[in-house]
Amino acid sequence: MNLAATSGDGLSPLLRAMIDAAVSAGNGLREDFVQIASLEIEHKIGPDPVSAADLRAEATLRTELAAAYPEYGFLGEEGGLIGGTDPTHMWIVDPLDGTANFLCGLPLFAVNVALVRDGKVVAGVTHLPMLDETFWAETGSGAWLNGKAISVSGQKELLRSILAVGIPFAGKPRHRQFLAEMERLTPSVLGLRRLGAAAVDMAYVACGRFDAYWEQSLNAWDMAAGVVIVEEAGGIVTDTLGRPLVLDNGTVLASTPRLHADLLAKLTPVDG
Ligand code: IPD
Ligand code: CA
Ligand code: CA
Repeated sequence: MNLAATSGDGLSPLLRAMIDAAVSAGNGLREDFVQIASLEIEHKIGPDPVSAADLRAEATLRTELAAAYPEYGFLGEEGGLIGGTDPTHMWIVDPLDGTANFLCGLPLFAVNVALVRDGKVVAGVTHLPMLDETFWAETGSGAWLNGKAISVSGQKELLRSILAVGIPFAGKPRHRQFLAEMERLTPSVLGLRRLGAAAVDMAYVACGRFDAYWEQSLNAWDMAAGVVIVEEAGGIVTDTLGRPLVLDNGTVLASTPRLHADLLAKLTPVDG
């Protein structure tokens, strides 16, 4: 870690503020999750209980991050963009990634907090409230899970790889592309997983539980934190054509360095 700028617990003040905010938001989600799980199924369908939880979590993030760094801008999935007086810094947050899991009673969901400086993600936190797992990274300081250094897997063979993927659903584009990818990949890998939370997929690549993850249509808040966590863990993050990542409404391929080229070959676009 960069010890020159750390607080007493070894974390930089920036990461300390990000982790504290993510954990506070996660504590609220945990209470809401338990309440929603006890609702009858017909009351779960429809946006209301979930959007209340989303909004509450985002408000917590906004309040805590603004208290620590009042001059930074803030982009949240729920509330959109709130400009800051410092044009070089912006928070990008997803207060609840894995909404459908949250609604169904599956504990795989996360709070995502990233800091962008001059257009580049420089710090990220992904907190899984129900599993008590917090992943974090800051450029140049490695990637961490609950205080232990993590790294991507050393896997180099697709045939022995477990990959995570985001499957397009109603309202998402590129369904034919997804089907083509399945046709090319299922015979060549050890397994494919669809967890339903991009933040968790990326964190799991960073700690070697998955060897790679890709998805064809994501927003900045889904992946910003994961970019720096995977890169600091020794992985590569690009778009699915191998180009530098576009955070806003982009595609993503996060993988171990040794699998990246083989995966790009399988993800070539169906439309040429
Ligand atoms: C979604 C999840 C899901 C991914 C979708 C995202 P949300 O975010 O990350 O895994 O496939 O593309 O929109 O709606 O749960 O915050
Ligand atoms: Ca999301
Ligand atoms: Ca969300």
